[in-house]
Parts: sequence; C-alpha cells; structure tokens
Amino acid sequence: MSIHVNPYSDTAAAKGEESKKMQVERMFDNISPYYDVLNRVLTLGIDTIWRKKAVSLLPQKPNLLVMDMATGTADVALEILSQRPDAKVIGIDISNDMLSKGRVKVADKHLSDQIELVAGASEAIYYPDASFDAATVSFGVRNFEDTIGGLSEMRRVIKPGGKIIVLEFSRIRKFPFKQAFNLYFGRILPWIGKVWSSDPRAYRYLYESVQAFPDGKEFGNLLESAGFEKPNWQALTLGICTVYTATVPSS
Ligand SMILES: C[S@@+](CC[C@H](N)C(=O)[O-])C[C@H]1O[C@@H](n2cnc3c(N)ncnc32)[C@H](O)[C@@H]1O
Repeated sequence: MSIHVNPYSDTAAAKGEESKKMQVERMFDNISPYYDVLNRVLTLGIDTIWRKKAVSLLPQKPNLLVMDMATGTADVALEILSQRPDAKVIGIDISNDMLSKGRVKVADKHLSDQIELVAGASEAIYYPDASFDAATVSFGVRNFEDTIGGLSEMRRVIKPGGKIIVLEFSRIRKFPFKQAFNLYFGRILPWIGKVWSSDPRAYRYLYESVQAFPDGKEFGNLLESAGFEKPNWQALTLGICTVYTATVPSS
C-alpha cells in the first residue's frame, strides 16, 4: 500500500523513470539546506514540542537502542539523547544531504558516539530481526514508497514487546480551524516554501500528501496490517499532527 501522491511531475517523473522513492530523495536533497529553518518558521516552533511529546513515549528502560527511521537532519535522534542520555540511536534516511546536515548537528553536540546516521531505506532495513528496543519515525512514513512494507520492516527489526512511535501530520476536521488551517497549509505555506527553498513543488507535495494519507483509526489499522498490536493515537495541536504508538507482539 502506498499513497499515490508524488513530489514531481517533470519529465523523468512523468515518464516513470523515477520511482516515488527517488523523487522523495531528490526533493529532500534539494530542500536540505532550508529544512530546519523552514520547519521552525512554518510551524512557529511547535514542531519541536511535537517531537518532544513523541520521544517522551519511548519505553522507560535504561540503555535503550532506538532506530529513528527517516531521521532527516537528526532532530528526533537528538531529542532522544536529550531525554534519555544513556540511549543509543541509529538514524536511517534515504537522503544523503539531509544526513550530512544531521551529522554536523550531532558532532556539534559531541554525540557521535551515541548517534550513528546511516544511509538506507525503510523498505529494506539493513539490520537483523529484533535488533532494537524501539523505533521512531517522525514525518517520514507518509513519504514511504510502500507504507505497509516499510512499517513491516520496522516491525521486523524491533524486539518482541518493543514499541514503535510514529509522528505524522493529520487532517483537522473541526470548523473553523479546518478552513483556517487549510488556507494556511494549502496556500500560504507552499508559497513561503517555494520562495524560500527554491523547490516549487516540495511544500505543495507536503499539503497534497497529508490530504491523501490515512490518519487516526485508519492509520491504526495500517499499523495492525504491518503486524503491530495495540495501536493507540493522540491528536496534537487541534489535530494538525498525531502521535501513534503500537507494540510488537511478545510471541
Ligand atoms: C519530513 S522529513 C522528516 C525528518 C525528521 N524525521 C524530522 O522529524 O524532521 C522526511 C524524511 O524522510 C526521509 N525518507 C522518505 N522516504 C524514506 C524511506 N523510504 N526510507 C528512509 N527515509 C525516507 C526523507 O529523505 C526525509 O529526510
């Protein structure tokens, strides 16, 4: 299962020469120099509060080994170390340029011993079964080429009884917040993103992919289809964003 919203419709993309994964990689490579600053500006800094909330849901065990899938510029990995200084994090991403930005941030905080950032994709994770105590994925799962395939791979590498935490945009449903937010998210934000990031499609894709992506119970069902159990979710900031948790069956 995947959502059929792709970043680009230019020549290579339209001819089908470039998969969704390749387009997503190209898009994040393009916007990597502006990604962090645009996140802070476009969400008025609330994105940092959402990541803190997601990370606070990690299991309360010492010396956690966590996989942060779609780690990007390592904001979640760094937040994990700030809340759980004895943890180790492996951050995985398909965009080398996002990872390069992340490595600089990790080195600046002298955390290279505890945070390793590696190139890779959710669809084929280069780690053995049951390697990690928990996994996080923040604003990444919507971009997977194969949603259930990626989630199933994440389940494979989490230990039995371990936890997945997913942070993802969702759709506001209540009047008048829905109308106000859609105006901002659908029109104003893509315009700011286009001017600032020099990629005219990236922030339009953000809006379109969020509209097409399952949220709430529907996403909970996807987690179950991928082999997780006890899906749970909590809407954040009027439902702009939702944090999901689920566990890997113990036997
Ligand atoms: C919106 S960014 C989120 C980055 C970070 N998690 C955060 O919270 O800021 C999405 C990231 O997902 C990565 N990504 C998209 N599809 C992926 C896949 N199939 N496997 C691994 N990473 C992927 C992109 O390269 C990008 O860095």
